Amino acid sequence: MANKFIDNLLKRKTPDEIISEAGSSGLKKTLTAFDLIILGIGAVVGTGIFTIVGIAAQGGADGVAAGPALVVSMLVAAVACFFSALCYSEFASMIPTAGSSYSYTYATMGEFAAWMVGWILMLEYAIGNIAVASAWTGYFFHFLKGFPFLPQWLLNPPIWLVNDYRSAIAICNQNGIDPHSQIPYLFDKIPFAINLPAIVIVVLISLILIKGVRESARWAGVMVAINISVIMTFVIAGMFYVKPENWTPFAPNGFEGVFMGAFIIFFAYIGFDAISTTAEETKNPQRDLPIGIIGTLVACTVLYVIVALVLTGMVPYQNIDFQAPLAHAMRMVGKDWIAFIISIGALAGLTSVLLIYQLGTTRILYAMSRDKFLPRSLQKLHPKFQTPHVLTWITGVVVIIGALFMDIGISADLCNFGTFTSFIIVCIAVLILRKKEPNRPRPFKVPFSPVTPVIGVVCCLGLMVCKLKTLSDSAILFPLWLLIGAVIYFAYGYRQNRLEELRVIARKRREEKKIGV
Ligand code: ALA
Repeated sequence: MANKFIDNLLKRKTPDEIISEAGSSGLKKTLTAFDLIILGIGAVVGTGIFTIVGIAAQGGADGVAAGPALVVSMLVAAVACFFSALCYSEFASMIPTAGSSYSYTYATMGEFAAWMVGWILMLEYAIGNIAVASAWTGYFFHFLKGFPFLPQWLLNPPIWLVNDYRSAIAICNQNGIDPHSQIPYLFDKIPFAINLPAIVIVVLISLILIKGVRESARWAGVMVAINISVIMTFVIAGMFYVKPENWTPFAPNGFEGVFMGAFIIFFAYIGFDAISTTAEETKNPQRDLPIGIIGTLVACTVLYVIVALVLTGMVPYQNIDFQAPLAHAMRMVGKDWIAFIISIGALAGLTSVLLIYQLGTTRILYAMSRDKFLPRSLQKLHPKFQTPHVLTWITGVVVIIGALFMDIGISADLCNFGTFTSFIIVCIAVLILRKKEPNRPRPFKVPFSPVTPVIGVVCCLGLMVCKLKTLSDSAILFPLWLLIGAVIYFAYGYRQNRLEELRVIARKRREEKKIGV
């Protein structure tokens, strides 16, 4: 009995099964390698380079500053991602399905691990989007301030209309204001605050996604173009204000500063793995997915390193702003109009991150529903646009509800936890499948395996442990999230999978009877 139970938990799907199921998904195959790099840059460049870069360099409220050595931190984070990216590429080219690391785990570690990875991925994609949506609101008002003739209620809206309740209360406390005077309280006890701009942008993103992935790739392309142009404007204009003396001392907090910086800025690289979730919509996944994943990572690393050099060269690291660091650097040298343009780029960057993350969430849930972990009705495609509209709306609603209760710090921490875990699992999964199925054709192979995947695991685990040591609320929420996932699996997914097995056996028997075996 116990053996049977464990066998069920470890039940694998072969890569061939996963591929054949994916082949009949009905999703349109329209994306090229170029589309993937655009989607990738759209998913990666966002809150990290526009906001978190300042925290990593300057140390934030109570962190350890990387200082000008931020550029080294960026390379360290990129190296950690690079090893995982190679592992993602091997899997994505071998098992091109929408499920990403969820499907890869199913093919290597079995049913229970697969469900848990899918559940963890929701942290990266859906909960990560809560952080990005919150940052989006911040930049939106930064952008509006470029139009001083707008009415005051729009330039300085009530705190409770543009923040989650935690942030609203924190802002009041920081400014020595009594929250009761600024925030409405339900029954005089429960503070009520709602991040309205975040909700509006999430609804708009859902509508775009329902219209179709091709259109979404086009949208992402427009936003990436704006975004990259703005970052290049910062680099080119800022270059002339670089003072080499700002680069000394280079690493004011030594290795500690460099590694803490690497850990913080890791957030800026998250997202390249989202490309693998579009595998079922890619024209030539075997060739295009590795190009898309590695191309994105290389492009973003180059961009980030240049930005870090210019930023730390323009402003002494202690003075770097940690809310809008690039715009602030431009203000410091009297270029207010460039600061305004940067807020436009930031909005474009954050919008495309939102778009890709929601796309990723729906595609993973789609794969999970196909595997009977979630109700079948969720797989419904839109009759006209052929996109999973039910899941798109559900994901949007989850982000909206989450944005009411979580602030940017907690959601970003949880997003990091999810990402670290899925990176580690994909590296381990490569090793397992190499052992279990050494002869399976691998259009892309991780070079120097097993060394490369092992380094990937060590890098990610090291960064995750650093994070664990510094966390509070999210350190409790992460295990809680895992527990809830396990409960849902045993209450629904486990039983549905066993029922499906019985159905398959009954079907087989009927067929055998029919042909008189
Ligand atoms: N890399 C994504 C961003 O920086 C999560 O917004």
